[in-house]
Amino acid sequence: MRIRQHVNPLLSFYEVFRGERPALAPGRPVEVEIGCADAQFLFERAAQDPTRTYVGLEIRDELVDLVNKRARESGAPVVAVFCQAQRHLAEIFPPGTVDRVYINFPDPWFKRRHEKRRMVDDALVVGIAEIAKAGAEVLVQSDVWDVALDAMEAFERRDELFANVGGAWSFWRGGNPYGVRSWREQNAEETGLPIWRIRYRRT
Ligand SMILES: C[S@@+](CC[C@H](N)C(=O)[O-])C[C@H]1O[C@@H](n2cnc3c(N)ncnc32)[C@H](O)[C@@H]1O
Repeated sequence: MRIRQHVNPLLSFYEVFRGERPALAPGRPVEVEIGCADAQFLFERAAQDPTRTYVGLEIRDELVDLVNKRARESGAPVVAVFCQAQRHLAEIFPPGTVDRVYINFPDPWFKRRHEKRRMVDDALVVGIAEIAKAGAEVLVQSDVWDVALDAMEAFERRDELFANVGGAWSFWRGGNPYGVRSWREQNAEETGLPIWRIRYRRT
């Protein structure tokens, strides 16, 4: 199967939600990775703690199909949803239902001229705030300084919604607290790239 390297999230095609809403069991905690690609991170989380539901959001539908096939075959509590995350969070999750959000290495769009295509913007931050439970955790990781800084700015501008766990305008220096790695994180660590992390809590 041919998997596209990038898609432009600003295309009008992505305005309408065309994915399938995941079935969420009442009382079962929900973790979400935005831009999950192959969902390595979520499959590893599911192996660590199979009592939760893991939802991967992805704009490349080929990857959504691959993740859902793997989940069906393995029985892992992982489901991928085709969407444009900045636009569709409220169509996927009822308000106040998500326990944790991961944004791992969000962007292929690290050049300044592609800034508008970046995933972590005000719309995404407000969307996460709406679907997150009070106290929900958010982790953002990137190996691209500009992308990490932009993401921090987007969350800090909404300090009425999120508190920075490491202190206002600070990166998190305690490493990845969850003990599993996405494909990009593994790759960055193995090639010695720096990783910038920020952690927030929904207030
Ligand atoms: C660089 S990859 C990182 C994948 C994975 N999180 C990891 O760390 O290995 C970023 C992923 O986010 C997806 N993506 C980018 N913008 C998106 C958006 N607006 N909504 C949903 N997914 C998006 C891309 O298609 C891509 O698969």
